[in-house]
Amino acid sequence: MDRYVVFGNPISHSKSPLIQRMFAEQTGKQLHYSTMLAPLENFTGCVNEFFRQGRGANITMPFKEHAYRLANRLTKRAQRTGAVNTLSKLVDGTLFGDNTDGVGLVRDLTVNAGFSLRGKHILLLGAGGAVRGVLEPLLAKQPTLLILANRTVEKAKLLVSLFNDINSVYACGFDSLLEPVDVIINATSVSMSEIVPPISGSLVKPGKTICYDMMYGKQSTAFCCWANKQGAAVVMDGLGMLVEQAAESFFFWHGVRPDTASVLAELR
Ligand code: ATR
Repeated sequence: MDRYVVFGNPISHSKSPLIQRMFAEQTGKQLHYSTMLAPLENFTGCVNEFFRQGRGANITMPFKEHAYRLANRLTKRAQRTGAVNTLSKLVDGTLFGDNTDGVGLVRDLTVNAGFSLRGKHILLLGAGGAVRGVLEPLLAKQPTLLILANRTVEKAKLLVSLFNDINSVYACGFDSLLEPVDVIINATSVSMSEIVPPISGSLVKPGKTICYDMMYGKQSTAFCCWANKQGAAVVMDGLGMLVEQAAESFFFWHGVRPDTASVLAELR
């Protein structure tokens, strides 16, 4: 049976095995998918060992940039992202890397929730690896304005400079933001620790603005609670993005697109 894993550290909490097994069952694929705890100091060795037999892998924190450097070939979107969350072993033994995170976010917003991002004002909070992965697919939807706000403004500026061929992207700090926007996406790592980035409530137009947290948890995340309090029209967590990026990885390996709605409903 073909073997697949998700590499991470920590990894025991991962829902990827459950999701990929549901996709496999649904599409009649015979495969084995499990978690693999990769040591922080020997990710390369762990990946090489796995791919002696293995067929494909997902990569999660903190190894996505490392996986990018390990891949022998990259999809266009992975090249720009500088991070890889999916590796596939090709017949000639080379490792082909992709990044499906951004497509996952965009599909959750546009297909599952039915929003159009074209012509909208989007505010993206954070400038780490999570943001890097989603910038290009978001920009491909042609928002009028994409503001990248980060605690460390220089990091946001650096990311924006990678997209200087597109003139609708701007970088700033949190405190200069006041005007309401159409969509706010939280891609900082603070939700894990019950903190909300220090942004003004005036950014949410009650009944109009959509708020999306790339994190998810059993309880509502701190950012989702904040958004509800401000009267956001729609508040979403990142579970849909997780399922959608997994579906895109499944497609990358098997060439078959699984149905995500039933899997998302089951996880909820
Ligand atoms: P990831 O790969 O998940 O994006 P990361 O690269 O470590 O993780 O980035 C974490 C993001 O959360 C960064 O944008 C970080 O801001 P800085 O660049 O200023 O460090 C942001 N972040 C982390 N803790 C934060 C806090 N307490 N308040 C605001 N932003 C925070």
